[in-house]
Amino acid sequence: MMAVSGATMQSAAEAWKARIEAHGEQSLRALLAEWITPETTVLDVGGDAGRYALPLALRCRRVTVVEPSPSMVAQLREGAKEAEIENISSVEAGWEDARVGPADLVLCANVVYGVKDIAPFLRKLDEKARERVVIVAWMDAPPSIFSPLWRAVHGEDRVELPALPELLPVLWEMGIFPNVEIVDAGRPRSTPNLDVALAMARHLLFVRPGSKEDNRPEEAAREMAVETPEGVTLRGHRARPQGVVWWRPDGKAQSG
Ligand SMILES: C[S@@+](CC[C@H](N)C(=O)[O-])C[C@H]1O[C@@H](n2cnc3c(N)ncnc32)[C@H](O)[C@@H]1O
Repeated sequence: MMAVSGATMQSAAEAWKARIEAHGEQSLRALLAEWITPETTVLDVGGDAGRYALPLALRCRRVTVVEPSPSMVAQLREGAKEAEIENISSVEAGWEDARVGPADLVLCANVVYGVKDIAPFLRKLDEKARERVVIVAWMDAPPSIFSPLWRAVHGEDRVELPALPELLPVLWEMGIFPNVEIVDAGRPRSTPNLDVALAMARHLLFVRPGSKEDNRPEEAAREMAVETPEGVTLRGHRARPQGVVWWRPDGKAQSG
C-alpha cells in the first residue's frame, strides 16, 4: 500500500469535512465529535456510501459499515480509496443478517423507517454496542415530502412510514429509555431542478415511467413545485426536526 503524505491526508479530510458541512447537520456532527476519540470503534448500520462513515473514520480507530446495497458498498469503497482512508471496512448485508463483532459506538442514521421487524433490529443494535447506541431519525420519514402528491396519483391518502414519534414508544416498551436531542433540520428538503424532483417523485410514489399513472406525478409536481434559492421544493413544505436518540447498552438513559 502506498504511503499517505500529510498533505494528501489533509486534503482528504478537508474534502470529507466539506461534504458533511453541505448537509448542514452541525448539531449532529458536534454530538458525534463529543463521543468519538482516536480509540473508538464504530459500527455504521445502513452506512450507505459513507456520508458519516468516511468522516468518522478520520477521527476514530475503525469503522465497519453494514450496508445491504451492493452499489452503495461499491461507492463507499471507491470513496475510501479516493480519500486514502484505510481504517474502514464493509459488510454487504442487512443488519438483521449481518455477522459482525461488537463496537464501542453503534450508529444507525436514517434507516429505521422501512425496517419491518423493528424490535429485533433495535435489540441487535443494543447488543453490539459496548458504549453507546446512536440512532438518527427524522420527525417524519423522508419520502413524506411527496405525500401531498400521493392522493393526486393514487386517489387516496398515503399511509406514512414510521419515524421518530413511533420509534420512541417502541424503545420504551423494550425497556430502553434513551436520551433524545432534537437537532436543527436545516433548510427544507429540495432537489436541484424539476427533472430531479420528478425522478424522485416517480420512485417514491411507485410510478413506473411510461405507465398510465406516469403523467400524474408530473402534473401534480408542476402544480406544487416552488423554486427556492436552494432548489425545487413543494409548496408548503417545511423543514422538520431530526432526533439524535442515544443510550448506553444497558438500556438505561444516562447523561455524559
Ligand atoms: C437513507 S440511507 C441513510 C444513509 C446514512 N446512514 C445517512 O444517514 O446518510 C438508508 C440506508 O440504509 C440501508 N438499509 C436499508 N435497510 C437496511 C437494513 N435492514 N440493514 C442495514 N441497512 C439498511 C439502505 O440501503 C441505505 O443505504
